Amino acid sequence: MSDAGKPLIVVAGATSKQGRSVVTSLLESRRFRVRALTRTADSAQARSLARMGAQIVTVPLEVDRQGEFVQAFESADGAFLMTPPVAPPSAVEFPLGRQLADAAVEAGVGHVVFSTLENVEERSSGTKYAPHFTDKALVAEHIRTLPIVHTFVSLSFFYTNALEYYAPRIDGDRVLIPFYLPEDFRAPFVDPLTATGPAALEVFSHPGAYAGATLPVVGDVISPGEMVEAFSRVTGLKAEYRNAYGREDLLTHVPELAENPLLVDEILGMAEYAVEFGYFRKDRDMEWSRRIDPHALSWEQFLRRTDWRGERVSFGS
Ligand SMILES: NC(=O)c1ccc[n+]([C@@H]2O[C@H](COP(=O)([O-])OP(=O)(O)OC[C@H]3O[C@@H](n4cnc5c(N)ncnc54)[C@H](OP(=O)(O)O)[C@@H]3O)[C@@H](O)[C@H]2O)c1
Repeated sequence: MSDAGKPLIVVAGATSKQGRSVVTSLLESRRFRVRALTRTADSAQARSLARMGAQIVTVPLEVDRQGEFVQAFESADGAFLMTPPVAPPSAVEFPLGRQLADAAVEAGVGHVVFSTLENVEERSSGTKYAPHFTDKALVAEHIRTLPIVHTFVSLSFFYTNALEYYAPRIDGDRVLIPFYLPEDFRAPFVDPLTATGPAALEVFSHPGAYAGATLPVVGDVISPGEMVEAFSRVTGLKAEYRNAYGREDLLTHVPELAENPLLVDEILGMAEYAVEFGYFRKDRDMEWSRRIDPHALSWEQFLRRTDWRGERVSFGS
């Protein structure tokens, strides 16, 4: 098929971990064209997407830029929408997600895929504070009312959190790995850099089959204790779990969070929500992503593939 005949998918947040994965899978399939949205067209990540064949369009994911979003979505068949990390007290995630979706409708996009999370406020009857979950669920609720074919993907906890945000401390020959979850609590985790794309490719390839669906993206269901044990096995290094589940312990291991007490509340709220209510609603199909992507990385495969040995890693563009 000539490039001109291929459906065009716009990817918001294209240089993000999720976005890069989506752009890569769509272009490697050779069945789609991609327009990649970024704030900075000449960043290393944006240039790398351009070399892969993506059209780069400069537009920040900020509220009140709906006109720019509409232009960016012009003539697109589909759009992958996500919201960048937002720390409280900022509350832009809901209006931003809503404006992205409204712009897609206004531009006549055929199908939107939004990266959502569960409604923590509703599931916990207001007892847990995790706006970066609930605000995505509210965006999804809004999208359900729009005259556009829509599908939701819902990513598990990222494996990359341990590399990027909660990096271990090296103490002599021991790697001390802090986790915001209890040692024995099994939760869904995933590699956003390799798992988001196959999920999006599957959905954009069969829009009718997934209309209205919310699809968890899961690589492994594993406890922090098991993750530490796998880390030792793969790297040959001595490693120990460090408890960061609870305010004092979290601030001991990630002291820089003290600058933003609301963010601490949010991390604790998210972790308690996952433990007490389950990360995903019970009716979600936890096997879907691993069925459509049998190469989805388990934590152990992720460690082998990345060769991670406990250092802090930045995935920024
Ligand atoms: N961490 C987890 O365990 C987890 C699990 C599930 C869902 N999530 C959600 O995943 C989302 C983050 O995805 P990610 O980790 O793939 O993103 P990421 O790697 O942190 O990248 C965020 C991207 O957003 C783009 N961006 C555009 N406008 C922005 C703005 N105004 N401010 C900040 N960034 C802007 C940046 O690209 P340019 O600089 O090129 O514009 C950047 O590449 C968050 O909504 C988070 O809640 C996280």
